[in-house]
Amino acid sequence: MDRWAGRTALVTGASAGIGAAVAEQLVRRGMTVVGCARNTQKIQDLAAECQWSGCTGLLVPYQCDLSNEEEILAMFSAIKAQHGGVDVCVNNAGLAHPDSLLNGKTSSWRNMLQVNVIALSICTREAYQSMKERNVNDGHIININSMSGHRVVPTTDVHFYSATKHAVTALTEGLRQELREANTQIRATCISPGLVETEFHSRMYQNTEKGASVFGSIKYLEAEDVASAVTYVLSAPPHVQIGDIQMRPVDQKS
Ligand SMILES: NC(=O)c1ccc[n+]([C@@H]2O[C@H](COP(=O)([O-])OP(=O)(O)OC[C@H]3O[C@@H](n4cnc5c(N)ncnc54)[C@H](OP(=O)(O)O)[C@@H]3O)[C@@H](O)[C@H]2O)c1
Repeated sequence: MDRWAGRTALVTGASAGIGAAVAEQLVRRGMTVVGCARNTQKIQDLAAECQWSGCTGLLVPYQCDLSNEEEILAMFSAIKAQHGGVDVCVNNAGLAHPDSLLNGKTSSWRNMLQVNVIALSICTREAYQSMKERNVNDGHIININSMSGHRVVPTTDVHFYSATKHAVTALTEGLRQELREANTQIRATCISPGLVETEFHSRMYQNTEKGASVFGSIKYLEAEDVASAVTYVLSAPPHVQIGDIQMRPVDQKS
């Protein structure tokens, strides 16, 4: 990871769960991390914690609603002005609404597409353009996908979400191919976790108890496990292109 110290990463959805853990691990390894989300108070608290504990890097909170393209573009302009540009982009922000294909609300489907697919694609394009204009040839774009991007579980609540994550699988491989056509050494990776203990399911059901009921008695993945996969792919030698890491709790059946 030494070569990343002092360089700039954007981590979307850094106010909770996996994004917060990724931001923290990258700051501990000396990176300047712009952490974005709608709620920046939690990112500010994490930034203060990182500072107290003597991290060599810096966490910079940035408020951005990723369902709004103008806000995303303004964020990239601010990163350019304040930090030069983005060397690593971790497209982590994502959400699910429990809206089935037969009865779901169009607004819920649209919101999942906006954040999980369109915002991820805008951030990817803008991060690549930022790398290109500064002749950064070793950047990395990492998409937090899901095992739901690789198979469809028979749970009505997540069928549309699963479609957005299948899109992330296609987008990551398409990106890898376009980067090769562009003759760069920039890498594209997705990380596909099974169940991780975060706020994700409570937010999905807008109900903490129902969110918790998704989890049984097995040992689930922790946000830090996924963050370690991010630092692993970043620390691979520059000629190694890891396409996807699929990771489940050992006891997860589906
Ligand atoms: N938890 C799991 O079991 C699991 C499994 C596989 C994959 N994943 C994937 O992992 C990623 C992170 O999930 P998580 O479990 O860490 O979820 P989480 O705890 O619910 O955190 C989601 C993050 O996304 C941000 N976000 C959501 N909508 C946003 C918007 N419109 N604009 C900006 N930020 C937004 C949230 O910030 P604000 O609300 O402050 O904006 C929050 O920081 C997602 O892509 C998810 O699909 C999760």
